Amino acid sequence: MGLHGPWHHVRHQQQSLEYLRQGRPPLGPTLRWGWALLRPHRKPLLWGLVTVVAGVAAGLVPPLLLKVLVDDAIPHGRVGAIVLLALGMLLVPAAGGLVAMGQNYLNAVLTQGVVHDVRNRLYRHAAELGLEVFTATPAGEMHSRLINDAGALQTVLNQALLGLVANLLTVGLTLVTMVALDWRLALLAAGALPAFAVPVLYFGRRRYDAVQETQEALARMTAILEETLSLSGALVVKSFGMEQAEAERFARVNGALRAAQIRQALVGQWMTYAIQVLTALGPAVLYGYGGYLVVRHQVQLGTVVAFAAYLSRLYAPASGLAGANATVLGGLALLDRLRAFLETPVRVRWAEPGLAVRPAADMPALAFDHVWFAYREAEWVLSDVSFEARPGQLVALVGPSGAGKSTLLALAARFYDPDRGAVRVFGTDLTRVDRGAFRRAVAVVTQDLFLFHATLRANLTYGHPGVSPDALEAAIEAAQLRDVVARLPEGLETVVGERGWRLSGGEKQRVAIARAILHDPQILLLDEATSALDSHAERLIQAALARLFRGRTVLAIAHRLSTILAADLILVVDRGRIVDRGTHTELLARGGLYRRLYEEQFGRAARGPRVAREVASWTSPTAGR
Ligand SMILES: Nc1ncnc2c1ncn2[C@@H]1O[C@H](COP(=O)(O)OP(=O)(O)OP(=O)(O)O)[C@@H](O)[C@H]1O
Ligand SMILES: [Mg+2]
Repeated sequence: MGLHGPWHHVRHQQQSLEYLRQGRPPLGPTLRWGWALLRPHRKPLLWGLVTVVAGVAAGLVPPLLLKVLVDDAIPHGRVGAIVLLALGMLLVPAAGGLVAMGQNYLNAVLTQGVVHDVRNRLYRHAAELGLEVFTATPAGEMHSRLINDAGALQTVLNQALLGLVANLLTVGLTLVTMVALDWRLALLAAGALPAFAVPVLYFGRRRYDAVQETQEALARMTAILEETLSLSGALVVKSFGMEQAEAERFARVNGALRAAQIRQALVGQWMTYAIQVLTALGPAVLYGYGGYLVVRHQVQLGTVVAFAAYLSRLYAPASGLAGANATVLGGLALLDRLRAFLETPVRVRWAEPGLAVRPAADMPALAFDHVWFAYREAEWVLSDVSFEARPGQLVALVGPSGAGKSTLLALAARFYDPDRGAVRVFGTDLTRVDRGAFRRAVAVVTQDLFLFHATLRANLTYGHPGVSPDALEAAIEAAQLRDVVARLPEGLETVVGERGWRLSGGEKQRVAIARAILHDPQILLLDEATSALDSHAERLIQAALARLFRGRTVLAIAHRLSTILAADLILVVDRGRIVDRGTHTELLARGGLYRRLYEEQFGRAARGPRVAREVASWTSPTAGR
């Protein structure tokens, strides 16, 4: 049977990045993907194209007016016609300018619409991605996709979409008009055009690579910024006196970014130069050969003058097209990057429609059925784990550090799916259960609570916006938080979190408990904090926990003696296996790993008078910090 652990995904992502480095992936899928992005914006696209056609047509008229003026109106002395033609030369460009304004508007609507959708899709996908991706990718890299890549795409779309079509149409229609006027002169003018293709093809590919390099350097830079300039990151940097080392690491990435951006800016310099020369060459040849033809009476003067006007209109969009290749390839590079991200698989897929969670007294509330799990290929972190938690039971997990307790809890919370076996709530496999129903039935309280930069009220009611004031009061009371709220300068409205008021470790734990009480789950998954608290703080937490446990099924990674003593079933986890199970008394009598852990951690406390209150850690070497 095949393994499909999270490592599967990591391998996939490495592959797709490798793929980008080796060169351009096939064009077809990228273009199809790009078109899928454009499709919802067909309306502005279509109207934009209409304005493009109108604008190009308006641009073709003035040289024709010029020709009539020179060849017809002036030689025949028709003053009325001269005035009309001159007026036309004003009005046509004026109308063309209005059309151009409309085109700019439509272009902006189109471009921003596409970029807006891309950003939403990126965020939606990022939010759905499994935790394994967040472990494998620095946060900054993901943010860079959303901000830098989407931003660069905007620049490209702005230039490429309608501008490209306008240039193509201008070159095409101008050529047609020139051929209709005089094919010999047209051939002369168009003869230089294929020469444009040579540098363009060469430089486009280099531009693609330069864009990839730039965006990668930007992503790495964002990652460094977010890691080292966040509160927790800065704390570590300072603790180890690594400020200068980090500055050097930043400088290296910054140097790479500079090099990549210089390369990107200079790619195509020679191309631009070649085009300039060609642009100067055109009129020189035209006037030379055209003048000769006029003298020989083979061509009218007005035609040559009109041709000169057309020529100036021809080379500008042609050089635009030349640059467009680079722009388009740069755009493709971005599309490929975005697509690679959007195609990283979402491993935990919720059933749609999913099954309801049906609590039943005769069903195990939570069951592991021969569960195997690996973060990386063939490194089992959980091996053949089976147990049941009956409704209302408290099941405690104990075991040495790294045994797999947090992993087990993460599988119960469906942050990951097992590679083999099944996890069930009230008999329903988690892969078939409805996401909303599951999250309502289950609450997770982790070791360290993350507080959003928001009011305490908002943090407490996160996920439950409609909670009643009474319920909130009750939860605060039950979680022993009333004194904390009373002490805060603005009570529940005090802004807490990263940049707000900082709560102590014990206070945060009680906020987490209050949140879970508000959630009112049938099943509680608890990773008890290992940090030791003074006996008063500990009493408060134990009272809060007792209130939270009441009437619920609890699976707890237990670090408190009180929790262990209260457990209906204790699972002893070692190296990914459940090596023993039973109540505290049974396990203690049996000796073995449990007894050893117990005596190591609680030995002194167990003999002391206030056993239940003593705080200790079963596992963490840092306990008692
Ligand atoms: N995201 C991850 N990717 C790869 N390996 C991981 C990941 N998380 C944990 N591990 C590994 O899995 C094993 C079990 O880790 P786990 O966090 O479940 O242990 P634990 O029993 O909770 O330990 P502790 O008591 O120290 O919290 C460890 O060897 C750990 O290194
Ligand atoms: Mg753990």
